[in-house]
This record gives sequence, structure tokens and C-alpha cells, in this order.
Amino acid sequence: MAEVKFFGSADMPLEMHKVKIIQKLNLRPIDDRLAAISEAGNNTFLLKNRDVFLDMLTDSGSNAMSDRQLAAMMVADDSYAGSETYYRLEAKLQEIFGMKYFLPAHQGRACEHLLAQSLINKPNMIVPMNYHFTTAKAHISRFGAEVAEIIIDEGLAVKSDNPFKGNMNLQKLRDLINARKDDIPFVRVESGTNLVGGQPVSMANFRDITNICRESGVISVLDASLLADNLYFIKARDEAYKNVPILTIMREIGSLFDIIYFSARKLGCARGGGICLHREDLMERIRELVPLFEGFLTYGGMSVREMEALTVGLDETLDMDMISQAPQFIKHMVDELSAMNIPVVTPAGGLGCHLNAREILSHVPQEKYPAGALAAALYIVSGIRGMERGTLSEQRNKDGTEPMAHMELVRLALPRRVFTLSQVKFAIDRINWLYQNRHLIGGLHFTEEPKILRFFFGKLAPDSDWQLKLAEKFKTDFGESL
Ligand code: F0G
Repeated sequence: MAEVKFFGSADMPLEMHKVKIIQKLNLRPIDDRLAAISEAGNNTFLLKNRDVFLDMLTDSGSNAMSDRQLAAMMVADDSYAGSETYYRLEAKLQEIFGMKYFLPAHQGRACEHLLAQSLINKPNMIVPMNYHFTTAKAHISRFGAEVAEIIIDEGLAVKSDNPFKGNMNLQKLRDLINARKDDIPFVRVESGTNLVGGQPVSMANFRDITNICRESGVISVLDASLLADNLYFIKARDEAYKNVPILTIMREIGSLFDIIYFSARKLGCARGGGICLHREDLMERIRELVPLFEGFLTYGGMSVREMEALTVGLDETLDMDMISQAPQFIKHMVDELSAMNIPVVTPAGGLGCHLNAREILSHVPQEKYPAGALAAALYIVSGIRGMERGTLSEQRNKDGTEPMAHMELVRLALPRRVFTLSQVKFAIDRINWLYQNRHLIGGLHFTEEPKILRFFFGKLAPDSDWQLKLAEKFKTDFGESL
């Protein structure tokens, strides 16, 4: 996105791409939306897309592809083994991360499975990380290990002006390694901490963490799924990197970590995933599992067309116009909502705008899932599908008790190059109305609670008829408007 100043209005993001293919959207009447959310058990994952107006659930697999990516799909080399497509992707990854080996996998969580299964090799292990991601934690716990979240304190403060809230607390890392070095299969760093507002990690922190790991012989792993946003923040917020080319930054990151894995549903705007490594011994340990769980080594469960699109998508990640688009839209949304005194996570991070449901619905106790309730309410009043990122997204403890999340957030993802500014303005307008009427929103309770990753399929019901009352108020204020 270009650095363009406006003459007649305040600064705002300016798209450096044009629309070539469109998909028609539906905004259904509020009574239909009420019925749809009820049928979905108040879980936005269970809504049908035909009932959704702006799908801000996630940026996973829903980023807009470029003309170059679509064109590349046509030259994919269909082959089970030895596909030219694979070698083009491998070469691109070697170029950007400077790592020798690449193992393909069908998506990010598949990489998490392969890493957990090959590296967690005895009971009671512990994986230090800045912050967990749902699937990463689920795979680590499946193999009997626990996670230790050692993000800096400010990472868990909803409001802050720390530009790198995703940083790891280095002293806590040193202490953990000193106390339990032999129980640590790897240290995991998530660039662009998903669950705490898409907050970036600084280059200095990447360097310090990996130095500590190297000195103590512990494997360092980077989850680079949200690296595109993190790269933008390193350039935009760290003076030392302002004029450093993105490729140089990526290669520096690649030189620091032993292993980098990613979801290509996010990084590279395609659908797939993979693990990049320097060390042959580690590669060999993990490689054994690829044909078993993913597919042959030259596709790993990905479609070759997606692999071609990914190769081009990774190349486009080196373009500031590309990686700045989502963070600048998110910043616009965060700035506008903050100006209306609506509680959001600050500073603006990557991935999406995060509403602070804990504060917006301070009258709804955490046991009644305020973030889930706010996500359902927002869908009812706008047709916008966001995602609960709070207690519902946690898993129960082994003893059945329910841990309360550090934050109760509603994430409104802005998939890259998908929405226009007027659509973002519509979202801001409806969030503002909902905020003014927040006292009408009540809590939720489970009616069906799955054991694993309950937020995906769980069903909930409202505690009272608050949703009907909210819809009535909407009709009073907006009349016939959708
Ligand atoms: N790591 C991070 C940081 C992620 O955000 C995700 C996915 C994964 C790993 C897993 O990758 O979906 O390809 O298996 N995040 C999606 C989201 C699901 O909506 O935030 P995957």
C-alpha cells in the first residue's frame, strides 16, 4: 500500500490493486439472521456462508488471489512423484528462508502434528512458547506434553502502546530451560500471536530467543503462519529495518530458527502448508511421517495447483504493497472504533480487528462466554461473521475444570485484498450501534460440548430471550433496512 497523503480528508488506506473477479454477497433480513444463528447453535463456525454478508471469520484460505497466482495454477505439473511444481516451491522457500530442506503438508495443523509426533518423545515434556494457538496446543497435548506461555506481560494487556506485544519473556525462557532443559522438545515462537490480537514479535526478540536456544542446545521452531503481517510490522515499527528489503528480513529470520513451519492458507495466500529446516537429522525424523499422514514427499497432501499459487504468493509476500494492505485496513478499523471509545485491542495488530468483549459486555460473566455472545449478537445485527477468541476457544483441563481465557475477544478478520473500505465502514457502523445497545446482550451456555477443539462444533443457547429483544431494537432503529 502506497504512502499516499490525502488533501481533503484524513488519511485512510488506499488499495494498490483492482477488482477483477467478484462474488455476489447476500445480506439477509434480520429475522432470517436470527433463525440462522439459532440453527447454528450460536456458533459462527456453524453458519452457512449463504447466510453471511461479510465473512470475517478468518483469513485462512480466504485471501484473494492475484492474477499471477491464478495464472500459475494453469502450469501446475500434475504428478504423484517428482512434480516440477514441487521443485519450484522448494526453490522459492529456499530462496526466502535460506533453509535447505522443505517438507510439504496439507495445512498448518498438519505441520504441528508432524512436529509434535516426531519431537515429543517422552512423558511430561513441556513446550515453551510466547502464546499458544488452538491447534498447536491440541497436538502438543495429544502427545502428552504441556505448553508454557511465556509472553511478555504487556502481551496480555488489551490496551498498550508496545509495538511488539507478541514478544517472549526472555528471563522466563532462560529459567525454564535451566530448570527443565531435558524436558523441552522445542521452543515455539508464533509470529503474529493469533489468540492475543495478532501482535507481532520483534526481530531483536527472534534473535535473543534463538540465541538462548542455540546456547543450550534446544530446538527453536517458528510458526510463520502470520509472518506476512509480522514482516510489515518489523519494517513499519522498527527504525533499524525501515529500509531493509523484505527478502533480507526473511532470510535473517530463516538464519535464526532451526525449523520454520507455516499454514499456506495464510502465508502465501493459497491452501497448504510446510516445514522448512536446516538440519538433516531433524528433517529425516519428520520426513518419515509425511507419506504416512500427508502424501508423497513432493506434494504432502496439497493440490499441485495450490502449490503453484503458493510459490507465486510467497514471492508476492516480498512486496510491501501486498503485506501492508491488511494491517493498514485493520489499523483504520481500530482507529475509528477507538475514536468512538469502543474497546478494541491496541496497538492494531495483524489478522483482524479484535473487539474486547470482556469490557464491552462487562455485565456478562466469563463463564457465560461474553466473546461468543458478542460474536452472535454482531451477526444478528449485521450479517458479519466474526470469531470468538476467548474462553470458548480454550480446552478443558484434564480434571474437567474450565480455564478462563486471558482475553475475551471477538476477532474480525480482514482476509487480504478481499473487502473494500465501504464494507469496513459498514462493519464499524454496525459495531457502533451494537456498542450503544450492549446492555441488551446476555450470555450463552453450552447445549452440546465436544471434547476436543470445542469451539469448532460446540452448540450454545442464549440464557434468555435477549436475542429477540436485540432484533426488536434493531427494527425500531433501522426500520426496513437490512
Ligand atoms: N498457526 C497459526 C498461528 C494459525 O493462525 C493457524 C490457523 C495455524 C497454525 C493452523 O493452520 O489452519 O492451516 O491448519 N489459523 C486459522 C485461523 C485457523 O482462523 O486463525 P491451518
